[in-house]
Amino acid sequence: MPSFSNTVLLTLGAVNGAHAWGVLGHATVAYVAQHYVSSEAASWAQGVLGNSSSSYLAGIASWADQYRLTSAGKWSAPLHFIDAEDNPPSSCNVDYDRDCGSSGCSISAVANYTQRVSDSSLSDDDVAEALRFLVHFIGDMTQPLHDEAYEVGGNNIKVTFNGYSDNLHSDWDTYIPEQLVGGDSLSDAQSWATTLVKEIESGNYTSQAASWIKGDDISDPIAAATSWASDANALVCTVVMPNGAAALQTGDLYPTYYDSVIDTIELQIAKGGYRLGNWLNKIYSSKIAKRDLESFAKVGRAATSQPDLSGRSFLPDPRPLSRAKLARAAMDGSCCNSGRHNH
Ligand SMILES: *[C@@H]1O[C@H](CO)[C@@H](O)[C@H](O)[C@H]1NC(C)=O
Ligand SMILES: *[C@@H]1O[C@H](CO)[C@@H](O)[C@H](O)[C@H]1NC(C)=O
Ligand SMILES: *[C@@H]1O[C@H](CO)[C@@H](O)[C@H](O)[C@H]1NC(C)=O
Ligand SMILES: [Zn+2]
Ligand SMILES: [Zn+2]
Repeated sequence: MPSFSNTVLLTLGAVNGAHAWGVLGHATVAYVAQHYVSSEAASWAQGVLGNSSSSYLAGIASWADQYRLTSAGKWSAPLHFIDAEDNPPSSCNVDYDRDCGSSGCSISAVANYTQRVSDSSLSDDDVAEALRFLVHFIGDMTQPLHDEAYEVGGNNIKVTFNGYSDNLHSDWDTYIPEQLVGGDSLSDAQSWATTLVKEIESGNYTSQAASWIKGDDISDPIAAATSWASDANALVCTVVMPNGAAALQTGDLYPTYYDSVIDTIELQIAKGGYRLGNWLNKIYSSKIAKRDLESFAKVGRAATSQPDLSGRSFLPDPRPLSRAKLARAAMDGSCCNSGRHNH
């Protein structure tokens, strides 16, 4: 019997490429996060999602990629990335005001859904949607090509990987991780996550894990998300295309290029999970637990002013469309324009 994730891939894969870390990457980020959420935060998240299984986050981690493909969800496509209009490989940087378009981006989305997930005036469905989006976007942000405008995040860089013609973006999202792990089912993700958690607990990542969440402050989600995007964007210059894009188009990316990037891909997935777990703990402890306490004590909400739940207040001032934003718009909301290659 095909697993849930395989069914999704088969269904969507026929017409569309994979979006953002593929199903494997997002589910792995989610399982790593599940390891780090407190039991109170986990119960809260399970209640919000109506799922108390041991895959409550992993099972919904790619929902946002399916949703963006529907006509009802097309509006959400820009939220999967931020188009840093920098100049790789010579200079990489994220500038929120410059790079986040007027329809929003991953950074504004993290702020919007951090606010919405804990607002008790929203419906259960809206709160669940906010959590599904957060789980996905915090993962997306650690994929360097989701923080890069160059060639539409690498979607327009045609390359060959292990004999298949595809593009650099989908290799990073999907094919390179799958080459490492050997599958994309939830159990593949779970065992990859187990490996990464071990590296965090007592391995390659132990000395650096604290730095991945350093300064993350729930009261300033734009700053936290901008630091995550900047961290991954820097890797575009140093790891993704240190010698420029043309250097990646002279032969098969497997095995030499694969060998040069695979440690970074593992690191980024681990970071995404660790950050997501920490962020959910912060949401729980500084918003949900407090809110529940207040409502228990019947402290009125009337005195506190209501936030703008449309998320508009998080957006930078509008600017004229740049060339990079026009190129992105020309993709019509799509992230990956190549069909899923046939493994
Ligand atoms: C909970 O999530 C798991 C993993 O995605 C899924 O298999 C299961 O059907 C879900 N349960 C409910 C009640 O939705
Ligand atoms: C951890 O480090 C070892 C030795 O450098 C390396 O072989 C292994 O692939 C690393 N694991 C991860 C998950 O990066
Ligand atoms: C905030 O989230 C809501 C619900 O998904 C959405 O309608 C709105 O457009 C979002 N705002 C921004 C600025 O992304
Ligand atoms: Zn992608
Ligand atoms: Zn995505």
